[in-house]
Amino acid sequence: MPGELIGERVKKDPGIDRFSVLVPLKGKPMLNPFQYLFTPLQVGKVTIRNRIFSPSHGTVFADSDSLPNERLADYHAERAKGGVGLIITEGTAVHPTGKPFSNTLVGFDEKCIPGFRLVASRVHDQGAKIFGQLYHRGRQMESLHTRLPVWGPSSIPSPATRENPHAMSREEIQEIVQGFAKAAAHLKEAGYDGVEIHGAHGYILNQFMSLLSNQREDEYGGSLENRLRFPIQVIQAVRKTVGADRVVGLRVSGDELVPGGLTLEDMREISPRLESTGMLDYISVSVGNYSTHYIMIGDMIFPWGRRFI
Ligand SMILES: Cc1cc2nc3c(=O)[nH]c(=O)nc-3n(C[C@H](O)[C@H](O)[C@H](O)COP(=O)(O)O)c2cc1C
Repeated sequence: MPGELIGERVKKDPGIDRFSVLVPLKGKPMLNPFQYLFTPLQVGKVTIRNRIFSPSHGTVFADSDSLPNERLADYHAERAKGGVGLIITEGTAVHPTGKPFSNTLVGFDEKCIPGFRLVASRVHDQGAKIFGQLYHRGRQMESLHTRLPVWGPSSIPSPATRENPHAMSREEIQEIVQGFAKAAAHLKEAGYDGVEIHGAHGYILNQFMSLLSNQREDEYGGSLENRLRFPIQVIQAVRKTVGADRVVGLRVSGDELVPGGLTLEDMREISPRLESTGMLDYISVSVGNYSTHYIMIGDMIFPWGRRFI
């Protein structure tokens, strides 16, 4: 039966139950573990030509005024030409307080539309689909770059950036929700096939979900239901903006890997709750926040499949 046998999952390390390692079965040939790799994948209403995707990664190729340009289009078009099915462009700021440093993309300014249209059309010309990732770094920002106060759910600094954030008011929370919606509208206008909401890596959605960074006493803090209120409002606002034909996805960290932070157990409860909004087409699972950056973007010191341990 196709796909039945690709090897045997063997627990390598006693006491460590998060990972198993795939090894060939003795004496039996491995069937092709990648048999679906070049078959199409339906995500929401969008059909992707294969299962290979280029995840969101900062290129620092934007103009000095933070707009997408020919260079970014060339970069992604080359990957699409190489056969990638889906490109997800880099974290794109939804608000001036969330734009990290120069040459990084903004989505809140409508001036971004022509550049994103260029990137999307060049990727489409090569047969690939394109989603755009929207984010706000929240307390993991540095005012040195923005010359604006750092915003976060509570006035608790990130150990990585060490700047005391301003605890956002309800109005400011809504400003960010609307920032996500506005930037999503710009990507839609530019011809993007979907939007990925960045809820991972210790950024603002993650910050609201996590007790490490959210100690609010209003309806956005405390119980899990309250801590999910802001992420759900963002998801709803983005879906309402892009409609049913575009993909809406969410990236989460499956574990912050920090004492007191969100754990795999927490995310097992949170992810279905977010999914049950009925507004997401996929959830992409990454890991870590800025305190565990070295694992989030792990280098080759980590054995294959062993990032967590
Ligand atoms: C330079 C660089 C920039 C990145 N920027 C983003 C980003 O903007 N958004 C995001 O979700 N992940 C970002 N990532 C993480 C990648 O999407 C990916 O999850 C990570 O590199 C692990 O995959 P890998 O082992 O194939 O590198 C970035 C990674 C790198 C190396």
